[in-house]
Amino acid sequence: MSEPAPATAHGAPIELENLTKRYPGSPQPAVDNVNMEIKAGETVVFVGPSGCGKSTTLKMINRLIEPTGGRIRIGGEDVTDIDPVRLRRKVGYAIQSSGLFPHMTVAQNIALVPRMTGWPKKRVAERVEEMLDLVGLDPGEFHGRYPRQLSGGQQQRVGVARALAADPPVLLMDEPFGAVDPITRDHLQDELIRLQFELHKTIVFVTHDFDEAIKLGDRIAVLRERSHIAQFDTPEAILTNPADDFVSGFVGAGAALKRLNLSRVRDVEMREYPTVTVDTPLQQIFGLLRAGGTNEILLLDRRRRPYKWLRRGDLMRARGSLARAGTLVHDTVTRDATLRDALEAVLTDNAGRVAVTGRRGEYIGVVDMETLMNSVHELLEADRLDALEHQHDLEEARAQQTHFEQEGEATERKA
Ligand SMILES: Nc1ncnc2c1ncn2[C@@H]1O[C@H](COP(=O)(O)OP(=O)(O)O)[C@@H](O)[C@H]1O
Ligand SMILES: [Mg+2]
Repeated sequence: MSEPAPATAHGAPIELENLTKRYPGSPQPAVDNVNMEIKAGETVVFVGPSGCGKSTTLKMINRLIEPTGGRIRIGGEDVTDIDPVRLRRKVGYAIQSSGLFPHMTVAQNIALVPRMTGWPKKRVAERVEEMLDLVGLDPGEFHGRYPRQLSGGQQQRVGVARALAADPPVLLMDEPFGAVDPITRDHLQDELIRLQFELHKTIVFVTHDFDEAIKLGDRIAVLRERSHIAQFDTPEAILTNPADDFVSGFVGAGAALKRLNLSRVRDVEMREYPTVTVDTPLQQIFGLLRAGGTNEILLLDRRRRPYKWLRRGDLMRARGSLARAGTLVHDTVTRDATLRDALEAVLTDNAGRVAVTGRRGEYIGVVDMETLMNSVHELLEADRLDALEHQHDLEEARAQQTHFEQEGEATERKA
């Protein structure tokens, strides 16, 4: 059996009809009667809480899990009883932690499905190099390596290369970037967008991260328990018009974080913190801490840069030595930092606050959890009022439009 060297296969539509999965021994189906049409060449993201049935739904599409009811059609063909090898050729599959076989080289991993489906050796070898190029890995360098000799991001790239190797019209991805660090994840997402721009596969992508869904999806299916579809629409439509409280819950969390990315420390009210410098007489520092009103003061160096957090008792324990007392300030943010950066600094600090500094590193103020929470609430509330106002304007415009149209019709009828 030999394969013609194919021009890249573009995507095929997928139809799910009354798709159901009951695991033996579970009273409720894990996936209950799902109906969905996915268009050729689009990226659809399944997003929903853990355990809602995303993976089960996905794995039924390539029959890693056998459905207990319903049908799946790919490119119009019922795949419910197609032979599994042929299905592998139609449907690529990439998962979290790449799922690479550790005892096989990168090249052997990528060659797996083309070899299984009987491609000639030479064509397989060429395809491996082509795929490595496609996912941005130098074939010469990576070809013979084993998965453990790759970084997480590189493994994930090889996973995608393997999924695409037999040039399937459909690509299924189950939280493929779930296990890599945020920066690598961001890169991999960008690359997937670029790949898809070239390849036009039909991609079904599973995530529990709504931001990822917004970034990657042409359409998003928000799933609730048993894979019930809460909303299936474009990211814009879901963001501006969530179908119900469940969807708003998902959007809301995303919206708050996005809001934090769009606002800066300079936009919020910082807290005044009691400060002293290394030149302040010890008596005075003791006095400040003993006077109540504050549990903690910020010690600045001679150039007024944050140096140490000093708590009541620290000085006593250090027998009055400022050099030994307190906790070094290890993280600061500037006024240009986003609130999300500030939140990260606050969350990674045991005491839940971060010092804000100016251009020369000098102390300006402090942002803490409470400041951030209040700001986010205010920002979101302002957004909501804006949206209401916008909606009101839209409705007025629409009413006007209808009014004109009716007048127009009336005039026509008279004529
Ligand atoms: N092999 C299995 N046997 C029994 N129940 C399972 C099995 N796999 C998953 N489930 C159950 O089915 C439900 C959906 O699981 P899954 O599809 O993995 O959810 P998700 O991918 O959305 O986190 C969960 O309640 C899970 O416990
Ligand atoms: Mg899952």
